[in-house]
Amino acid sequence: MAQERELILAFETSCDETSVAVVENGNRILSNFVATQIKSHQRFGGVVPEVASRHHIEEITIGIHKALTEADVTVADLTAVAVTYGPGLVGSLLIGVTAAKTFAFAHQLPLIPVNHMAGHIYAAHYVEPFSFPLLALLVSGGHTQIVLMTAADQFEIIGDTRDDAAGEAFDKVGRVLGINYPAGKEIDRLAHEGHDVYDFPRAMIHEANYDFSFSGLKSAFINKVHNAEQRQETLNRADLAASFQASVVDVLVAKVSAALEKYPVQQLVLAGGVAANHGLRDALKETLATRYPQTRLVAAPLPLCGDNAAMIGAAAHVELADKHFAKMDLNADPSLEFAWQA
Ligand code: KG4
Ligand code: ZN
Repeated sequence: MAQERELILAFETSCDETSVAVVENGNRILSNFVATQIKSHQRFGGVVPEVASRHHIEEITIGIHKALTEADVTVADLTAVAVTYGPGLVGSLLIGVTAAKTFAFAHQLPLIPVNHMAGHIYAAHYVEPFSFPLLALLVSGGHTQIVLMTAADQFEIIGDTRDDAAGEAFDKVGRVLGINYPAGKEIDRLAHEGHDVYDFPRAMIHEANYDFSFSGLKSAFINKVHNAEQRQETLNRADLAASFQASVVDVLVAKVSAALEKYPVQQLVLAGGVAANHGLRDALKETLATRYPQTRLVAAPLPLCGDNAAMIGAAAHVELADKHFAKMDLNADPSLEFAWQA
């Protein structure tokens, strides 16, 4: 009998979230188990790879069980198994890859390898179907990229960060403000209580490319705080957060605008952990409405901006249609890049 519903069991363990999901037909989440390890890493101010791997081992089989139970499906209902195999922390990736391979082998299911960043983009696919070509602004803890997608499985990076990723800058600045890792959400909240009074640099904003640099902003921020401390002055934390966030948002919006001038696409996908930023979401919405009315903002739903396996299941649906399967020798690839045919 022909299978009516396609069910993918998806795994995501690229960093510090252990996640297992069941996704139906690439567009319906039946379950999305996410075990976050943030508490274990907070006291170190960032993710400790060795600790992350150990937590993944503890959580992964629990995740499989919970994802299947909550979705109310059995192994016999599944069509395929999907897994993030890069980019990310090698030890973390290996746990997901090994679990997925073992599960696929034991139950004779096809194994679909998924790029983590493609997964982030496909989180927005739960909002509406994609129409190509489209542009995606991918902003996470490790990446800041503008991606041109000409087809469901074609990702051309047209802009990238030269140094720190946007999320990394939020986290480093957060540390100076005494905010726990990951600091993005709290800086976003504080920023809404303050004003952009410190006039931090907008690096590369006028350069004729779609690239980013955030390390100068981070240094300017740290210098401002240290100089004030030496003079025993107190700076307003909300204003500091607002000024930092305004600089990041201005640069992201300017570079996306430049990309939209060259590629007047119908959809701008916003995805990755930093896509949860309210200042960024509002600024992009406003810019599109006033300057690029032909382009719709397709922002990943807030609960799917951070790392999760539901987004991996959505990206895997495309790979399944293309019959892009992995063999049992699939390995983690910590610096995996996007697939693109020129
Ligand atoms: O995509 P993600 O969950 O993990 C990676 O693949 O890197 O992104 C995590 C990043 C962290 O740097 C965190 O501080 C940032 O996303 N983040 C935010 C917000 N929520 C999370 N940054 C700015 N504003 C937010 N509301
Ligand atoms: Zn991520």
